[in-house]
Amino acid sequence: MCGIIGYTGKSPCKNILLSGLYALEYRGYDSAGMALLDNKGFTIIKSRGEVSRLEEKMRAFHAPESSCGIAHTRWATHGEPGERNAHPHVVGKTALVHNGIIENFKEIHELLLSKGYVFASETDTEAAAALIDLYYSETGEPLSALSLACEKLCGSFAFAVMFEDREGELYGVRVGSPLLIGAGDGESLLASDTAAFPANIDRYIAMEDGGISRIFRDGFQLFDMSLSEIKANEQPLTQISRNTHKDGYEHFMRKEIHEEAAAVLKTLAAYIKNGLPDFSASGVDTSILKRLSSLHIAACGTAMHAGLFAKFLIEKFLRIPVFAEVASEFRYKEPIFEENTALLVISQSGETADTLAALRLAKERGIYSIAVVNVPSSSIAREADAVIYTHAGREVSVASTKAYTVQTALLSLFALHLGLLRGNICESEAQKFCFSLSRELPEKIDEVIAREDEVRALCLSLSQKESAFFIGRGVDAHICAEGALKLKEVSYINAQAYPAGELKHGTISLICKGLPVIAVSTQLSTAEKTAANIREVAARGADVYLVAPADFPQDGAKYIFSLPKATEPLLPILAATVTQLLAYHAALLRGCNVDKPRNLAKSVTVE
Ligand code: F6R
Repeated sequence: MCGIIGYTGKSPCKNILLSGLYALEYRGYDSAGMALLDNKGFTIIKSRGEVSRLEEKMRAFHAPESSCGIAHTRWATHGEPGERNAHPHVVGKTALVHNGIIENFKEIHELLLSKGYVFASETDTEAAAALIDLYYSETGEPLSALSLACEKLCGSFAFAVMFEDREGELYGVRVGSPLLIGAGDGESLLASDTAAFPANIDRYIAMEDGGISRIFRDGFQLFDMSLSEIKANEQPLTQISRNTHKDGYEHFMRKEIHEEAAAVLKTLAAYIKNGLPDFSASGVDTSILKRLSSLHIAACGTAMHAGLFAKFLIEKFLRIPVFAEVASEFRYKEPIFEENTALLVISQSGETADTLAALRLAKERGIYSIAVVNVPSSSIAREADAVIYTHAGREVSVASTKAYTVQTALLSLFALHLGLLRGNICESEAQKFCFSLSRELPEKIDEVIAREDEVRALCLSLSQKESAFFIGRGVDAHICAEGALKLKEVSYINAQAYPAGELKHGTISLICKGLPVIAVSTQLSTAEKTAANIREVAARGADVYLVAPADFPQDGAKYIFSLPKATEPLLPILAATVTQLLAYHAALLRGCNVDKPRNLAKSVTVE
């Protein structure tokens, strides 16, 4: 979603801001803009489309050498993605960039119209800028103006603000959307993500939710909404937390798929001790886990597919019901929480608005919460009772790949941990499974990746189609759901996933000659049943792409990717890597912008 970067310091900042915007591009955006402040006032430059267009425009225009500025990549929510709606928005003495949504902006708009403000854009952001400006003109004091404005605004937002008569000062507001402060020697920054900070910035502070910050060249202050000063929790900025390099790969998506084995290895190593699962590092309360009589899971998109995978395993190992629901539904449905239950939320970014809302809802109801998160210090990581980190490293590609693979591996280990804790699984069985997950799985993932050319070959035909089906049974149905999502989002092929047995209850009417059906079959117990479904669609002319172990039935399949020999519970995870490569190569062959699919944003911080 929108990206924010702001700078005040000893150096001219337009190139620092531009580099920050380039680093934030992965979040998804459709316009960009910058406000520079010097003793002559604001200079505003905006452009529709790519940051490179903004850069060209700035060069042609000879933007001033100011050392204080804010910049933004906008993912349109209110109003079309043109220059008029691009940020920064300037009203009176206030310049503002914003990530999030102001829910009551119409009401604010009306209030401000009555005070004589006129609006140049269709955005909610301009209304917020005007409100802050109103209070600034009344109080003459930035912190009071921001605090008064926040009292009136509803929604989820992060702001970076400058006031025309306060050169060298930046102000940050965080209400529900992430905002970080970067601290260096004689320079300070505000950004949505550590990736946007220049290499010489070595410390960062994740602003507290409901916090305001004042940023100077030589430091910063943090306040709560009543303007009491609060203590900063500084963290070192590591290379991993800002790594946004492709390291010789053409695309982040491919690079990240290639990092899967290492990421699984690193993550599982953090939760295995003496050959057995050990989640003590997560702070999870074992006595609660032992008592669980049900579990709820909430997440969005790919993370939800990892949640469905976890549901399958936990139900199998524990024989307790697991209710998995997309967070955007969960948060509004008044979920029924049984006694001795808990909520597991899964999120790569740790900032997804709906998942965060689901977590908060459960907490309000006194339900114990466990989060599986990739980004340290993210909102979900900070608010959950216990956090199980995936150590997948930074995921830049909008389409999630390595985060999903690591989530499925880690959740398999967590399910095993639960099974062992509650005596459903014996220690020797657990040891064997731990070994398979931590040693065998990374090796086999690399074996699959080494055969990438085979997957690419399958895409020569697939990439020419406009729609496809994915079919699988049991846990494979969840791998199919994720495979279909990946194919849709990066290649724009309309892919639908079905439990294989469900197809003939209606959708089979769409099967026709040459229609691609990707069948995932990894479990011996359902292999024959899936084979029957493959024959049904093949008999109606479908081109079946089979992803299965070499010794599974293959009748009816036109194209085959044989999975390496591996312990059965690992096979679905390996099949997922195959479907990720399938989506990547299909998208590439179709000339799509793989890392930045249209309309999508990496971290969905609005609902
Ligand atoms: C798809 C994808 C999204 C995310 C979803 C949740 O490839 O990446 O579906 O999985 O937006 O994001 P996180 O995991 O950051 O909560």
